[in-house]
Amino acid sequence: MAQSTAVTSGHDSARRAGIRTAIVPAAGLGTRFLPATKSVPKELLPVVDTPGIEHVATEAAEAGLDRLVIVTSPGKDAVAQYFRAQPELEAELRSRGKDKLVEKIRRAPNLLAKVETAIQEKALGLGHAIGCAEPNLDDDEQAVAVLLPDDLVLPRGVLRRMIDTRARYGGTVLCAFDIPLDEISPYGVFDVEDTDDADVKKVNGMVEKPSPEEAPSTYAAAGRYLLDRAIFDAIRRTEPGRGGEIQVTDAIALLISEGHPVHVVVHRGGRHDLGNPGGFLRAAVDFALEDPEYGPELRTWLRGRIGE
Ligand code: UTP
Repeated sequence: MAQSTAVTSGHDSARRAGIRTAIVPAAGLGTRFLPATKSVPKELLPVVDTPGIEHVATEAAEAGLDRLVIVTSPGKDAVAQYFRAQPELEAELRSRGKDKLVEKIRRAPNLLAKVETAIQEKALGLGHAIGCAEPNLDDDEQAVAVLLPDDLVLPRGVLRRMIDTRARYGGTVLCAFDIPLDEISPYGVFDVEDTDDADVKKVNGMVEKPSPEEAPSTYAAAGRYLLDRAIFDAIRRTEPGRGGEIQVTDAIALLISEGHPVHVVVHRGGRHDLGNPGGFLRAAVDFALEDPEYGPELRTWLRGRIGE
């Protein structure tokens, strides 16, 4: 399931649709990773050697976007720093003949033409974090992508399909996984109706964390959003909800209630939740097993360790 971080193809439908910006919210408290997140943002924890945020930035670049807006909290500059060039380190590595490492450290700064930050003073929720990035957008940007850096959607490419779906239906496009009903309870679940495309559904509503009996479908929300610009006004009109936070799903529900079209692209692939230590470890093992340098030895070690 793991996948390398090289950018493999460009895509011009994003440009045709005028979608240029990916917002990456990274201002959360990361409580599930304490104590590490006392000083290291969880978005920078390495999956083998590459932070989750580089994986989602690669996905945005491959979808044809050219600006990343990282939403950070005051003093959490390390995430933006990761996307800046480091000429001194490059020169040092070159002088030691480590050209392969130079390639690695240049990858993130070269992915997108512009990397900017927006500050969320207080972690008031994902919807609020997205709202903090509105001033970064140009006046003519009618929609914006949002990628959660702790959600790896594999293989990469769903964002492109979401952009194509908006080109057809307009409005807002979300991403879903088809989950077995008995595993549905931890997720936000879409209430949908079919379209003529088996992997695109029209969304009529959403239920957070339903029991299998209450679930309106088996389509569970993932951390990819293609939001119409109307979302920013909806966020301003959204009261704090679950956990006292301003939730983006509440703002989307408000838009649906006002007749705004919302569709979901069903992604038939894999996923890693990097937001908790258990999911993060699975991702690290999955990526490491695919890695030519670490994979073979890890496989042998794991066999021995599990056989013990
Ligand atoms: P999470 O709920 O997974 O992140 O939010 P968290 O709140 O940092 O983690 P825990 O639950 O305390 O362990 C999903 C994404 O939204 C961002 C987070 O940084 C994460 O990338 N986020 C969340 C914000 O930027 N601001 C917020 O107020 C909340």
